[in-house]
Amino acid sequence: MLIDLKDKVAIVTGAGRGIGNEIARTLASEGAIVVVTDIRQELLDEVAAEWQRNGWAGLQLLCDVRKAEDNRAVAAEVERAFGRIDILVNNAGVAGGARVEELSEEVWDLNMDINLKGTFLMCQAVIPTMKRQQSGRILNASSFAAIIPSIGGAAYAASKSGVEAFTRVLAGELGPFDITVNCYAPGMIPTGMNRFAERNDVDKGRLLDTLTLRRWGSPKDVAQLICFLSSDLASYITGTMIDVSGGKFATQMPWAAHRPG
Ligand SMILES: NC(=O)c1ccc[n+]([C@@H]2O[C@H](COP(=O)([O-])OP(=O)(O)OC[C@H]3O[C@@H](n4cnc5c(N)ncnc54)[C@H](O)[C@@H]3O)[C@@H](O)[C@H]2O)c1
Repeated sequence: MLIDLKDKVAIVTGAGRGIGNEIARTLASEGAIVVVTDIRQELLDEVAAEWQRNGWAGLQLLCDVRKAEDNRAVAAEVERAFGRIDILVNNAGVAGGARVEELSEEVWDLNMDINLKGTFLMCQAVIPTMKRQQSGRILNASSFAAIIPSIGGAAYAASKSGVEAFTRVLAGELGPFDITVNCYAPGMIPTGMNRFAERNDVDKGRLLDTLTLRRWGSPKDVAQLICFLSSDLASYITGTMIDVSGGKFATQMPWAAHRPG
């Protein structure tokens, strides 16, 4: 049984760096035509150079997922260039926060606008194409914070909980068109967003103590799930959330099993 993504047309948002970048790279190395979008042109330039070096098909498009017109322009450009849109990965995200008493409206809005509204707007932009095709895969980045939030993470957690509810509603609405909609919860994966790698050893230990496998994840761990969920092998999975978190939800005190003796 092989995952066959050859010539599937995929859009990955916020894929200039981090997990999205690895998702895009993995889809491309599996033969998909991958359109990378990001808000930062310098990241897209690096992606363009890599795609050229490897002879991968695709596009790099500047897009702020908060703007409906940017998302619509991406969908139109992809349909013009490749004639279809098979896969959308709504990866773009931010994670700012503070305790609720001190949380600014700006930071609240930033989390909501990028993580939740951006996901909604990009979905809205590709739905007509996927409906016409009577096929499609939509994958939305959630977080384990949607279920077990962190202190100071109200805005982020609320936005990701919103992504999960949104995912289920959209799965219901698009079921009749054979379009599947799922979300995934990565963690804990050191990236520029969370800077886990820069924490001191005590903090790192505390974070790892919450994981069944007690080790960091890698962007590749998420990318491999995305390849499966994007493929024909996952055609009967929709409206669900899958965590790639080293067992974040398995037991209350996973560190107990890692103690010697
Ligand atoms: N790293 C983790 O452990 C972890 C855990 C849970 C969830 N996630 C989720 O995974 C996704 C990727 O996270 P990451 O750790 O790779 O973060 P990252 O900061 O490394 O990457 C985020 C990317 O999104 C882009 N971006 C930011 N705002 C944008 C906008 N308005 N429009 C378009 N692009 C924009 C950034 O330029 C960047 O390339 C996010 O949705 C995040 O919430 C990550």
